[in-house]
Amino acid sequence: MTATFQTRDAETLLRRYDEVRSHTESLARPLSPEDQTVQSMPDVSPTKWHRAHVTWFFETFLLAEQEDGFAPFQDQYWFLFNSYYEAVGPRYSRPDRGLISRPGAHEVGDYRRNVDDRVRELLSSLDDGTLEKLSATVELGFHHEQQHQELLLMDIKHVLSVNPLRPVYAGTPAPHSAPDPMGWVDVEGGLVELGHEGEGFAFDNELPRHHQWLEPFRLADRLVTNGEWLEFMADGGYRRPELWLSDGWGKVQTEGWRAPFYWTEVDGVWLEHTLNGTWPVNPGLPVTHLSHYEADAFATWAHRRLPTEAEWEHAVVSSGLGAPDAVTGNLADTTTFHAQAAGPATGGLRQVYGDCWEWTASAYLPYPGFHPPAGAIGEYNGKFMSNQMVLRGGCALTPNGHARPTYRNFFPPGARWPMTGLRLADGGAPAPTPKPAVTTRA
Ligand SMILES: [Fe+2]
Repeated sequence: MTATFQTRDAETLLRRYDEVRSHTESLARPLSPEDQTVQSMPDVSPTKWHRAHVTWFFETFLLAEQEDGFAPFQDQYWFLFNSYYEAVGPRYSRPDRGLISRPGAHEVGDYRRNVDDRVRELLSSLDDGTLEKLSATVELGFHHEQQHQELLLMDIKHVLSVNPLRPVYAGTPAPHSAPDPMGWVDVEGGLVELGHEGEGFAFDNELPRHHQWLEPFRLADRLVTNGEWLEFMADGGYRRPELWLSDGWGKVQTEGWRAPFYWTEVDGVWLEHTLNGTWPVNPGLPVTHLSHYEADAFATWAHRRLPTEAEWEHAVVSSGLGAPDAVTGNLADTTTFHAQAAGPATGGLRQVYGDCWEWTASAYLPYPGFHPPAGAIGEYNGKFMSNQMVLRGGCALTPNGHARPTYRNFFPPGARWPMTGLRLADGGAPAPTPKPAVTTRA
């Protein structure tokens, strides 16, 4: 669970509950029951499964614990919609979620309404002391559902991409643009403090706050673009083993990688599948849907490197972008449902929040002194701290209110279906060559 949270009164919690829950349904609205049932690969879950699972979360961790005379809405739903909580009991096979033709999308709606009614009744009836004790669980449920809102969109993007008709989810494409020069922001380093502080919500993996030593470094002021990625490809980026980590080069060969995940070449033109349609690659937009291996290979080609998560967080906070009112950017993009161009240079960091989750060079590990909480909820984050890399910043599909400077997302290094991108780093150690491979100012 969370180690810090905002204590809420019932009215605030109920209003927030309705906002979060209704937003999930608004994201599913453009999708037919058939769309909502497909699982196009093991990592992707059907839309209706997301809708049911986040409901199961409130049913399991709130209603089952607190409701008088609790009984599950359906006995089998506990089995079908448990994601990975061993302590809660057995669960259905993740790669087979697309076989769950029943309950249908409409029955999942019935499940959601039933749990919503019961949660509202529970929250309205609790005394202040009990409410204060439960507010951390309720707030965790909000942030959990927001995580699944982002996953719902990433997952349906893949589902629609394998449909030969290439259906559009929603939105319109951004106008054609060209990359502007990449600038750099110098950061002093030294003994810095990292991790969440204050009263706002944080996941357990953002704690405890701790010190770390950083050598001086600099970060690119924007994300790497499609135009720069085309240069990497034209220079043999996917054909040169010397650019790649060994595991990554293995993937290039066994999976036939020759471009980002959603790019296809038709008559010599590279097209990109997005939620707003399939279009010629727009050079000024951030490159996205890359594995960590691809991001690392690009950085090597550019004679740079990926930032560590500590460098990313310290650079953001020390630039004045750590305060809650500074967490703005291309988040919850309902115009293009995609990463957008960086816009004019500011002299500081651009595209910190939103657009694409930024791969870092950091393995996903516990912070010094981290201990997951006891019980099933302790399985939320801690047990995944192996074989995953940290990403920072959020993406265009991240809900508003869900990004923050200390947020640690994580995926296996070979994952390409999430909306991932990269920002270059430099310094901290002598560069192998002074020759820049991307056009830069400064
Ligand atoms: Fe979940």
